[in-house]
Amino acid sequence: RKHKVLVTRTVPQAAIEILKTSQSCDLDYWDSEDPIPRDELLKRVAGLDGLYCLLTEKIDSELLDAAGSQLKVVSTMSVGYDHVSIPETTKRGIAVGHTPGVLTDATATLTVALLLATQRRLIEAAGEVKNGGWGTWKPLWMCGPTLSGSTVGIVGFGRIGIAVAQRLAPFGVTRFLYCDVHKKSESQEKLVSPKAEHVDMDTLFKESDFVTAHTALTPETAGMFNKDAFSKMKSNAVFVNTSRGGVVNQDDLYEALKTGQIWGAGLDVTVPEPLPTNHPLLSLNSCVVLPHIGSAEDSTREAMATLAARNLLAGLAGESLPAQAKL
Ligand code: GLV
Ligand code: GLV
Repeated sequence: RKHKVLVTRTVPQAAIEILKTSQSCDLDYWDSEDPIPRDELLKRVAGLDGLYCLLTEKIDSELLDAAGSQLKVVSTMSVGYDHVSIPETTKRGIAVGHTPGVLTDATATLTVALLLATQRRLIEAAGEVKNGGWGTWKPLWMCGPTLSGSTVGIVGFGRIGIAVAQRLAPFGVTRFLYCDVHKKSESQEKLVSPKAEHVDMDTLFKESDFVTAHTALTPETAGMFNKDAFSKMKSNAVFVNTSRGGVVNQDDLYEALKTGQIWGAGLDVTVPEPLPTNHPLLSLNSCVVLPHIGSAEDSTREAMATLAARNLLAGLAGESLPAQAKL
């Protein structure tokens, strides 16, 4: 019999072609730009062998129970899989696939764009041109902290964190500090020049002019950028987050920006997404908020979609996944 598969959103067509040409799938496609409503999802997962989902779907015990014991694989078209309850999938012997690697470049590039947009006040400045606030060239107007000669602190020195450091190095950064669960090897630290130094979190917060977050959202990292963290940072510090909104305490970030504890923040991710348009963070010129577009390049999204399709097919065939989530 064919495997019952649900794809929960309109995804790049190349992924659908892979699933169709495999001829082993009986495909249910929620072909919509908008997320599948939860009650609809709970209905449609019943009897599934494989689920192809996005980070907008919460994969928890309720959903896995609704699916049934024949469910073999959950494949998410994202590198992050904090929306998938790994204890629950593990308990049930369900394989989980994700999309590391293929979005490293796109996400690192967006991180640098967001850092520069925040530091050089691009959004605020462009707004002044449109609203008539641009009077004349002024020596002290629209200035921000200096990138050249600065210290950049990278929280989470994995694929994306390293790629961000490599992209920032040519701007004249003089020190790279990093925190990670594990100290990286000498050769990994030397992937960036100057060589990245492993430091404790306090040192990173105290000594960095730019702090950028590239960690997965886990119970250990949830809310780690809080009042205590911001209070240790420099008053000219720029904080950038393109990982997951949940690593930041947004009330504390608002206070830190409002009171000048730190200089600015660039966020590609928030809680919730979308952020309500009346959210206090959106009232601050010092805060640039983007709609979770880290991996939004055509070829990157296609590579993510097709890797997720290959993960799904491997899981259905009982084979090891090209990119399996860590337990
Ligand atoms: C996007 O945030 C992803 O995890 O791929
Ligand atoms: C700026 O435009 C300058 O010429 O310094």
